[in-house]
Amino acid sequence: MTNLTPSKIRTATLAQFKQEGKKFSCLTSYDFLTAGIFDEAGIEVILVGDSAADNALGYETTLPITVDEMIPFGRAVANAVARALVVVDMPFGSYEAGPDAALENAIKIMKQTGASSVKIEGGVRSQDQIAALTRAGIPVMAHIGFTPQSIHNLGGAKVQGRGAAAQQLLEDAQAVQDAGAYAVVLELVPKLLAEEITRMLTIPTIGIGAGNGTDGQILVWTDFAGLYPGKPRKFVKQYLSMRSELLEAARRYRSDVADGSFPADEHSHD
Ligand code: KIV
Repeated sequence: MTNLTPSKIRTATLAQFKQEGKKFSCLTSYDFLTAGIFDEAGIEVILVGDSAADNALGYETTLPITVDEMIPFGRAVANAVARALVVVDMPFGSYEAGPDAALENAIKIMKQTGASSVKIEGGVRSQDQIAALTRAGIPVMAHIGFTPQSIHNLGGAKVQGRGAAAQQLLEDAQAVQDAGAYAVVLELVPKLLAEEITRMLTIPTIGIGAGNGTDGQILVWTDFAGLYPGKPRKFVKQYLSMRSELLEAARRYRSDVADGSFPADEHSHD
């Protein structure tokens, strides 16, 4: 195993990374095995994203997933991880009604998963919820720019903050920091604007489709591993071709079973 310091990543560690100009990486995970592998590799933050909705449960968007559906994913990841900071997404419907609802659901997530933090989408519109959770001792990662839970309102997965809309994004970034968030995800944001926000804030920024000027980067693990067919989105780099390798392996297995070459004697008990 690689020798990694510090031995445990905390929210304060990310703040220190920003001060030192040290970039960090985040991946999503929804299960025990991949979370354990990413942790062993030294990935600093593992997000149990509500992208579990489309990536693990087969929903079309992230909107249908519930707190009760998120909890087993969060617990599986938290059980696997020794070093990384584990963050669980607050799903659509679990915080929008106001700070009281947000607090109740965040406490449930923290108690039942063993994660160290939650993530909430929205800038100015979510600042009261972020402040309430932070006051209660729950670390909050914010998420602005393209926020997938608002996909219908935003008219699809589009770059946010171009032209005059940049001002709103700057205000969102400042609002989540002022409310007490310890880090903020910037999704689908022009590179130069993401750099400006990163310079403006004292908390770390984590980019996805936001260029390389943020303090950290995050990718959805199924994108990073190449599990989807077809051309990946522009901001995705595939580090594996897992879909084609699994497809080929499953075909070879089926053929081995069909022709009797699996199981061989070495796989059989006397
Ligand atoms: O749910 C998720 O995977 C996310 C990332 C896109 C940041 O929120």
